[in-house]
Amino acid sequence: MYTLGIESSCDETAAAVLRGERELLSNVVYSQIKLHRPYGGVVPEVASRDHLQKLPGVIEQSLQQAQVSLRQIELIGVTYGPGLMGCLLVGLSYAKALAYGLKKPFIGVNHLEGHLFAHYLEHPEAPPPFIALLVSGGHTALIYVKTYGDYELLGQTRDDAAGEAFDKVGKLLGLPYPAGAEIDKLAREGNAQAVAFPRPMLASGNYQFSFSGLKTALALYLRAHPKQELRADVAASFQEALIDVLVKKTLRAAQDKGVRQVVVVGGVAANSRLRRRLLQAGQQLEVAVSFPSPALCGDNAAMIAAAAYFNYRQGRRSELSQTPEPALELAG
Ligand code: KG4
Ligand code: ZN
Repeated sequence: MYTLGIESSCDETAAAVLRGERELLSNVVYSQIKLHRPYGGVVPEVASRDHLQKLPGVIEQSLQQAQVSLRQIELIGVTYGPGLMGCLLVGLSYAKALAYGLKKPFIGVNHLEGHLFAHYLEHPEAPPPFIALLVSGGHTALIYVKTYGDYELLGQTRDDAAGEAFDKVGKLLGLPYPAGAEIDKLAREGNAQAVAFPRPMLASGNYQFSFSGLKTALALYLRAHPKQELRADVAASFQEALIDVLVKKTLRAAQDKGVRQVVVVGGVAANSRLRRRLLQAGQQLEVAVSFPSPALCGDNAAMIAAAAYFNYRQGRRSELSQTPEPALELAG
């Protein structure tokens, strides 16, 4: 059975074709980054207009690469939230029209659940229960995944998401948007102990995060130390502070819930230092840690197709009356 996945919640226009549960036949991701770079962030109106232009071609390409015709598609999965209203509307409307025209079912997928299915696609050996750390440009959350479909949100960020903190700090350091991968690279040349940045909410006794103060601390530090040659040290020290909090809180959640598996998903899960630190810390506590391959960490439609097929097998179907839900949360 072939599932077509569609993703357009933010600044990636993506389509993928999945055969059965996990066999990925194509995974096309068109990134709008160049369009938004001059503004230092995603401009919602520009994003939705570009989705409208690119989505038909991206879907066509995903079908061609998979060597599957539209008539062979049995199920359509599409992100319906959370995300930007105009952007969600493009993908969802397109998917509903396809489903109606083809007389095939479609399933609205929660983008956050989608990220979990990026891991599901590649790691059948690491099923739930596990603690998921979801770290992206829009979200930072710790989720206790009892089984797929049964989620307990343990905590999330009160202000900036981890990726957002990387991007804002990148702007302060004069790096292009989005800056996560750039900081990851720059930090490898710096001394992570050079500047003692705060570890926000490390001792809060809960699973909440807050990263806006860390960004302010860095801005104040740069004002007092404007020397350009310190940039790598500052980037490494910032990254270390943020990662310290993520690693410690994630492993604490695993211990508190008595689970021996941690899964990290979302764009920031591609961070090389985060991957290494979590693997090391997990090893010491005999907790297995796994991640999707970097290509599936950021937004893509393969994960949306996988989540849709899973939900389909659970008997779920969406109605053509389905509307976008920009503020959708991960429900248990
Ligand atoms: O999951 P994603 O593609 O989009 C959202 O759903 O938000 O995540 C994008 C975020 C951006 O903030 C980007 O800077 C960050 O992921 N990112 C990274 C790395 N690669 C991407 N952050 C840290 N290190 C990286 N290597
Ligand atoms: Zn995402």
